[in-house]
Amino acid sequence: MAVSEILMTQLIEAARAARERAYAPYSRFAVGAALLDEHGEVHAGCNIENAAFPQGQCAEASALAHLVLAGGTKVLAAVVVGVADSPVTPCGGCRQKLREFAGDDTPVWCADLHAVRGRYTLGELLPASFGPTHLPVS
Ligand code: THU
Repeated sequence: MAVSEILMTQLIEAARAARERAYAPYSRFAVGAALLDEHGEVHAGCNIENAAFPQGQCAEASALAHLVLAGGTKVLAAVVVGVADSPVTPCGGCRQKLREFAGDDTPVWCADLHAVRGRYTLGELLPASFGPTHLPVS
């Protein structure tokens, strides 16, 4: 079932608020993310950089940690908020991280502080993806 505009608006607001908490002293590129789980709960996260640069964490990964800790097992919708000339889409690694809990039809919206800048599905962002069903344990 399609996720309502009202819920997407809630996700945008949560991602914008999370972005305010970003720890990004090195790139100065603050990102917020918000995810909707199968219980209707919203989980947000921000990027957390580190002086040892590769140890930094994206906003989507932070939000996923909150979703899993709260008992969520599915991502029904995702929003990423960043400020740039073009829509701030999830990085490649985060597309794969989202894929673990989402499907090809899952909406992934990209917004800035004023508007939605891009509306995608995860399948558009990560076509022909590798996922849990490829493994015999799933
Ligand atoms: N970043 C995210 O948090 N999510 C993305 O999908 C794109 C990149 C962060 C990582 C780093 O802290 C900063 O943005 C600049 O790359």
